[in-house]
Amino acid sequence: MTRSEQLFEEAAQYIPGGVNNPLRSFAGMGQPLRFIRRADESRVYDVDGHVYIDFVCSGGAALLGHNPPLVKKAVLEAVQNGLNYEACAEAELKLAKLIVQLVPSVQMVRMVSSVTEAVLSAVCAARSATGRKRLIRFAGCRHGGFDTAEGDPSGVSLLCGGGQDVLEAQYNDLSSVERLLEENKGQVAAVIIEPLAAHMGVIEPEPEFLQGLRRLCGQSGTILIFDETVTGFRLALGGAQEYYGVKPDMTIFGEILGAGLPAGALGGSRAIMEQLAPVGPVYQADACNGNPVAMAAGFAQLSSVLNQPLLYEKLAREGEALRAGLRELFPECTVGGVGSISSLLFTPGPVKHDRDAKRGDQGQFARYFSHMLQNGIFMMPSQFEPVFLSGAHTERDVEMFLEASAEFLA
Ligand SMILES: Cc1ncc(COP(=O)(O)O)c(C=O)c1O
Repeated sequence: MTRSEQLFEEAAQYIPGGVNNPLRSFAGMGQPLRFIRRADESRVYDVDGHVYIDFVCSGGAALLGHNPPLVKKAVLEAVQNGLNYEACAEAELKLAKLIVQLVPSVQMVRMVSSVTEAVLSAVCAARSATGRKRLIRFAGCRHGGFDTAEGDPSGVSLLCGGGQDVLEAQYNDLSSVERLLEENKGQVAAVIIEPLAAHMGVIEPEPEFLQGLRRLCGQSGTILIFDETVTGFRLALGGAQEYYGVKPDMTIFGEILGAGLPAGALGGSRAIMEQLAPVGPVYQADACNGNPVAMAAGFAQLSSVLNQPLLYEKLAREGEALRAGLRELFPECTVGGVGSISSLLFTPGPVKHDRDAKRGDQGQFARYFSHMLQNGIFMMPSQFEPVFLSGAHTERDVEMFLEASAEFLA
């Protein structure tokens, strides 16, 4: 028995399914779960001494790879000064100012500890700002880790009261949004979307889809929320809103703000953000909001990114090489993505929304995942999750991913 297998057997006694996030579970993958001992640059190392090229990148948060020197230094310095205060610290302000500088639609931010919290708070703020209750979300988009009782893997239904207040539209189908807004005239507070859908495979918005949403929201007085957990600072410095040229009213940011440490934020115009207490009526509070160590890590990562003007070009070049290689190898599958965010769905295209994505062959993916893992490639145990690249990955890492994929076919 490997050390990973021993740990998993024990973990399953103390932690449901042995995992603290079901997305990490290897159930059905034909491989024992790997326990990670450490991560550095583009590599993760398991407790049995195996090394893998890491295409998980802390769920995308490790934009520069694991342990970039400036982030490590900033964290070690911050730790010397205490782990959390439940009082204000300059580090929060430094990061808030940087976000406002980089993301044009954002005038103010509130730092929280997870995206789940950020989404919940953003929806409350939107409801307060509009005096409306209903919410439109998109099938297959993720916005937090909550119960899926209503068939909503985004969790937003439970967070937001569910029932008739949470309405479901189809990604890349503007008419589905138009219809819901018409049927619920004057009642929809917000439309929430991942501008680049990244959890049903990676699906790009079709031309004019985001622009159309912007127009419909503007016409109906509905707040448009972009969940940029995956895309924020990764697709471009100003996120998907900069990349696609569409400004939302509110933006959700994720763990990239803490360079992987627990962090998240909601941002938007002053008028909407001042719905939050202590200025406005929406109570939003958590003892770890704006944690000084996470803020220092996030500020250091973003500052390093600002000093690497060629980073996004490099990520796009390597991402394109990865996707081109996969398209050649798997002509029967759908390779999606943009920049450093890619996916391989085991179904022929086109894939425009979750109904298309769900055709992805699970058995085939499990065999692929198992082969890749055994050949030193670490990725999420789901074809619907992105394959991420970081600043620490090299062209050779991409070639090794493609070589392992080619061997799978052989
Ligand atoms: C777009 C999006 N929204 C929400 C979440 C949930 O984030 P958290 O686990 O921080 O609550 C994720 C995480 O994968 C995400 O990618």
